[in-house]
Amino acid sequence: MKVGVLTGGGDCPGLNAVIRAVSRRLFARGHDVVGIREGWRGLVDGRFEPLGPREVSGLLPRGGTILGTSRTNPYRVEGGVDAVLEHFRTEGLDALVAIGGEDTLGVGAQLHAEHEFPVVGVPKTIDNDLSGTDYTFGFDTAVNIAMEAIDRLHTTAESHHRALIVEVMGRHAGWITAAVGMADDARTPIPLVLLFPEVPFDEGAFLARVDALTQEHGYCCIGVSEGLSNAQGKLMAEAGTRDAFGHAQLGGVAPRIAALVRNRFGYRCHWAVADYLQRAARHIASKVDVEQAYAVGKAAVELAVKGRTAVMPVIVRKSDRPYRWTIGTGLLKDIANREKMVPRDFITTDGFHITPRCRRYLAPLIAGEDPPPFKEGLPVYVKLRNAPVRQKLRTEFKI
Ligand code: F6P
Repeated sequence: MKVGVLTGGGDCPGLNAVIRAVSRRLFARGHDVVGIREGWRGLVDGRFEPLGPREVSGLLPRGGTILGTSRTNPYRVEGGVDAVLEHFRTEGLDALVAIGGEDTLGVGAQLHAEHEFPVVGVPKTIDNDLSGTDYTFGFDTAVNIAMEAIDRLHTTAESHHRALIVEVMGRHAGWITAAVGMADDARTPIPLVLLFPEVPFDEGAFLARVDALTQEHGYCCIGVSEGLSNAQGKLMAEAGTRDAFGHAQLGGVAPRIAALVRNRFGYRCHWAVADYLQRAARHIASKVDVEQAYAVGKAAVELAVKGRTAVMPVIVRKSDRPYRWTIGTGLLKDIANREKMVPRDFITTDGFHITPRCRRYLAPLIAGEDPPPFKEGLPVYVKLRNAPVRQKLRTEFKI
C-alpha cells in the first residue's frame, strides 16, 4: 500500500507525533508513506514529499507540523476537487490519513460521500470542539498553557492591586476558557471571572462581579474567550476577515474588556493575549497529549490497512480517576460541521466559573508534562530536509 498523510487547519502539539506514528506503523507493515504538503492545498497542487525512517526520526519534541498546514478548502477552489482526485491517482496512493479538525475532516467526509475517496481521519484541534471523541489531542497542552498564564499573572495582580485579563483561543467553544478556571483551586484560590462564548455577555452582571471580587480581595483576574458574544449573538471582537471555510478570524476582545473595567472603576488593567503561545510549542506539552497523539496515529493506520474508510480513531474515556482511556472508531460524517460546546452544567449558574463536574473532566488532562530536551535554555529540535517529490502533473491551481 501507499498511504498519503496530510495535516490541515491550525497546528497543535502532537501533530508530529501522529505523523511519526502513522509512518512507523506503515514501515513496520512494509507499506510506503508519502507526506502531502500544507493540508488539502498539497493535493490540489500535487505537492508531495517522501517520508522515510530518517524524515520521521527525532520528531517527537518538535512543535508545529513538519508537513506544513493550510486552511485550503478544495471545494472553494475552481477545479479543486478534480485536482485532488487526479493528484491522488497519479501519485499512486491507496489511502489518505487526514489529520485535522472539523473543516479538514469535513472535506474528507464529503469526498468520500461523493467520490468514494479512501480517507481515514485523525481528529485534532486545540479547541476541543469535535464531537464523538472524549477530547482531541492538542487541547491538553493549550489547557496547560492557559492555566499557567493565569497562575503566573495572579501574584502580580495581587501585589499591585490590578485587574489582569488573559484572552484565550477556542473559537466558539469555551473549553480553553474553562481550563483557565483550573488555576483557581483550593490550594491557590484566585478571584477569577471567566467569560465563556457559551454565555452571552452581560455587561452589568460582569462589572458587578468584578466589583465584588475587587472589593473583597483587592484585585481580580479575568479569563476571556476570543469567541465571546453579546446577547444578540454578535461576536464582541473579530478581525474582519474569513477563511475558506467561512470562519471569522477572532481576537482582540481582551482590550475591550479592559476598557470596560477601567472606565467604570478606574482600576489599572492589563491584558495579555495567549494567541499562538497556546498552540503548537512543545515547551510544556502535556504527556497525555503526546501519548494519545501517538495512539490515534497508530490506530489510523490499522483502519487504513484494513480498508476502512470515512472513519477515525476516537478517544473513549473509561474512568476519570485513575484516568483510563481506550481508542474507539467513529464516523467522519459525525464530526463534520458539528461543534461540541462546553455543557451548561460545566459552567456555574452565574456563568462566570466552572463547576466541580467540569473540574473532574479536565483534571486528568492537566496531570503530567512531556518536555522536549533543552540545551542552553532552549528546546533542541531536529533539522528537516523537506525534499519535495517531482510533480507528476503540470497544472498548478491558484488559491
Ligand atoms: O482552531 C484552532 C484555532 O487556534 C482557534 O482557536 C483560533 O480561532 C484559530 O485557530 C486561529 O486561526 P489561524 O491559525 O488561522 O490564525
